[in-house]
Amino acid sequence: MSHAHTPYYLIDENKLVKNLEIIRHVREQSGAHSVLALKCFSTWCVFDLMRQYMDGTTSSSLFEARLGHEKFGKEVHAYSVVYSAEEIDAVSQFADKLIFNSVSQLKMFHDRVRGLKVGLRVNPGISYSHYDLADPARRYSRLGVCSEQELREVAGFISGMMFHFNCENDDVENLSVALEQIGARFSTILDKMDWISLGGGIFFTKDGYPLERFCAILKNFSEKYGVQLYLEPGEAAITNSTELVTTVLDVVHNEIDIAIVDASVEAHLLDHLIYRTNPRISVPAPGNNRMMIAGRSCLAGDIFGSYELETRLKVGDEVRIADSAGYTMVKKNWFNGVPMPSIVVRRLDGTVELIRSFGFEDYAGSLS
Ligand SMILES: Cc1ncc(COP(=O)(O)O)c(C=O)c1O
Repeated sequence: MSHAHTPYYLIDENKLVKNLEIIRHVREQSGAHSVLALKCFSTWCVFDLMRQYMDGTTSSSLFEARLGHEKFGKEVHAYSVVYSAEEIDAVSQFADKLIFNSVSQLKMFHDRVRGLKVGLRVNPGISYSHYDLADPARRYSRLGVCSEQELREVAGFISGMMFHFNCENDDVENLSVALEQIGARFSTILDKMDWISLGGGIFFTKDGYPLERFCAILKNFSEKYGVQLYLEPGEAAITNSTELVTTVLDVVHNEIDIAIVDASVEAHLLDHLIYRTNPRISVPAPGNNRMMIAGRSCLAGDIFGSYELETRLKVGDEVRIADSAGYTMVKKNWFNGVPMPSIVVRRLDGTVELIRSFGFEDYAGSLS
């Protein structure tokens, strides 16, 4: 491909492999299997590569589970906050593990899913999250079973449990303490289980993360309770692999110079608005020119952020938004009808492929 029209998400397989090698290392050293959390990243044009390093996928819905089955293969962990009866029948066709969110759903459906490995999501009442919005242990949380009594009553119906209680947790000692607490509280039930998933949110592919300590903690837990451990990395699997490549379409001035690019935070990087965070800019490099970079939608707060840049941005310049893979393409939308970024992959051998571009028909087809 000679030149792609911006905007586009550029996934770089060599950067992806950096994370995947760590995932493989953790598997080899600790025995923990990793299943990709599709809620974070489901761009299946790179699944041929990811499949070589990961054990399968985990999902949040029937469609995600089906995507995992059809496009990734290997193990399909099917979790959903709630299932309808029709969805249970459909997902049972291809799920290896069905993870219910509540005791009532387990009781409702366990007869229908005989033959599958069945698990329950448990809310251990601890969490590591900087955001109330993403805290599964927040007050009134509906995510997972809270009552040990209820759990004990149905323990005979399940072979595993899923605890998802981390969010970008890069503190291995904090994780170690949490696992000790979980072990102490659920030991008699853990002893009866074959597998335990620790969910996602552990930032073990971050530079400098103490991997050997992490592996020892995982190995110790799985040996102590005789369980196969699973990790469900989303962000950790794809972090720093992707840029959103954009072009400056206008520069306006209101106290500060504001470069408006041909993409939108609201439509293409929604989580930054939801969590009120600012993405990093990978191009231009940092410098002394202070500028705001803003999106092209009509939302007043559609702003990537204010940055100190090497160059003063002008119309036609390229701006690359760093780390744009997680919770982005899965959430992109057609707000304002602004053009949807294409999906481009730089393969391991350096060739660049335009995988998919979107046009008016896709926009119109998403409505009726
Ligand atoms: C049950 C479960 N597993 C895995 C993940 C993936 O988390 P992350 O992308 O932070 O690794 C999430 C994220 O919300 C989750 O809810």
